Amino acid sequence: MSSIQNNKTTVKQYDASKYAPMVTLDKPDRRWPNQTIDVSPMWCSVDLRDGNQALIDPMTPPQKLEMFEMLVAVGFKHIEVGFPSASQTDFDFVRKLITEDRVPSDVNIQVLTQARKELIDRTYESLMGAKRAIVHVYNSTSTVQREHVFKLSKDAIKQIAVDGATWVKEGAEKQPDTEWQFQYSPESFTGTEIEYAIEVCDAVIDVWQPSPANKAIINLPATVEVAMPNVYADQIEWFCDNIKHRDALVISLHTHNDRGCGVAASEMGVLAGADRVEGTLLGNGERTGNMDIVTMGMNLYSRGVDPMLDFSAMDQIISVVEKCTQLKVHPRHPYAGELVFAAFSGSHQDAINKCLANYEEGSTWEVAYLPIDPRDLGRNYQEVIRINSQSGKGGVAYVLKHEHGIKMPRWLQVDFSPVVQKEAEVTEAEVSPDQIHDLFKRTYLKVDGKAKLKGYQINRTDGVDHMSAELKVDSQKLAIQGQGRGVLEAFVSALSEHLGESFVIIDYNEHTLGKDEGSEAMAYVQISMNQQRVCGAGKSRDILGASLNAVLAAVARGMALQGRARDAA
Ligand code: KIV
Ligand code: ZN
Repeated sequence: MSSIQNNKTTVKQYDASKYAPMVTLDKPDRRWPNQTIDVSPMWCSVDLRDGNQALIDPMTPPQKLEMFEMLVAVGFKHIEVGFPSASQTDFDFVRKLITEDRVPSDVNIQVLTQARKELIDRTYESLMGAKRAIVHVYNSTSTVQREHVFKLSKDAIKQIAVDGATWVKEGAEKQPDTEWQFQYSPESFTGTEIEYAIEVCDAVIDVWQPSPANKAIINLPATVEVAMPNVYADQIEWFCDNIKHRDALVISLHTHNDRGCGVAASEMGVLAGADRVEGTLLGNGERTGNMDIVTMGMNLYSRGVDPMLDFSAMDQIISVVEKCTQLKVHPRHPYAGELVFAAFSGSHQDAINKCLANYEEGSTWEVAYLPIDPRDLGRNYQEVIRINSQSGKGGVAYVLKHEHGIKMPRWLQVDFSPVVQKEAEVTEAEVSPDQIHDLFKRTYLKVDGKAKLKGYQINRTDGVDHMSAELKVDSQKLAIQGQGRGVLEAFVSALSEHLGESFVIIDYNEHTLGKDEGSEAMAYVQISMNQQRVCGAGKSRDILGASLNAVLAAVARGMALQGRARDAA
């Protein structure tokens, strides 16, 4: 444990005892653990306000507009567009949305204001002419803020909220042509004594007098995440059970991610009875960020609940978020990162391959290691299997099949996998699909020293095939003859005789490379030569030509291996 010296004492550093234990609620009757989320909550994007306030360089007006339009396209119906009384850019942006009639009729814009008269007046000025809007007023209610920042009593802090609520109501009355909804946040709700938070919110509700037809939104922020998500859920359930006029309220959640559980806290808060969730796309926001709506929405989606937000153009969403925030999305970011659907490990690749082969379009998604179908987010299967030194034969086979139409039989997969693995080890890098294809060609198709087949003739008499073939070896022509039961056997006998080296074909496989009649054919053979198994592949316009080429490639490899063995001896 490190320590630092000051002139009086030695202060221990890295000492957990300086932090108070987690505060929990005594709530043995909690019901939320037995709930499930069957319908999506309402969402409110705070990208343009909370997210924007956390940026090194806040968004420019064109960036704000691009973000707003993307949020609308994704399907948000509540969008907090700014803090107009605190920022001229935000004020101008709100004016632009209204005067240029850029807010679709089913979208509510929301603006934040502190509970101060002049700021509330300025907020209403920015909203002049809006068809509908949510005015969101907040003040901090937590013990720490009351005692150390404001140095005010509980009653005085409650009065700030009541005054704010009153000015918000009065402001709305002056602009009766707009359809208003009010929202109140006891900032740092999770650091506020629960009975006191309810007392403050009750007082605000008394001012606003909401009804089931015209609900007020009470937003309960975990402004700083200081406890486990179950504690937040207990607080939300307690609040919902004890707040006045619950039926006239939308209970909204607003979690931050200081402990890395912002999404979990909101999920548990919804289990505990909340109706609405605030957050940002991909979690930008103060410190460790706001709750990530992409993750929470896709968590619902992946368990069959429609989030009512469309993330299918994920790459476009990422590009707008990265452009506007100037922050890169982590490659392992849930659902969005570049690597989140990639499998490098051999056993994972094998399992994915088998599950995908069994998956029938339209049936329930059951694919090992892939919680969702990458195609739902505009990704494709090709990106799923990535090859490095940890990868196995299944992955390599998948890449060759899906990228190049080469369907290697299992025995060839077993043979080729170490070749790719060696390449990955030597280069200490990922091996791309093109590199794999290249390796395949060099290893099996275009083998050094392979003779070229120039032509052949076959005569069948009494069930025996007699073959004469013309080969080109370097620039020399060579005529060979042989016979056997079947053309391949005849060709093998002709080659064996010519080389003075006997070998047999032990495995054989072929397929066409495309679906049309004119498609080329691929053939694969495994021969046994001098007790060694050697594979080769051949390509031609017809199956027989491809098969003979595959034999030539395997023989050339076999001869080269023997030559190397002799040299080494
Ligand atoms: O985190 C927070 O408490 C806020 C409020 C203003 C809602 O952003
Ligand atoms: Zn916040």
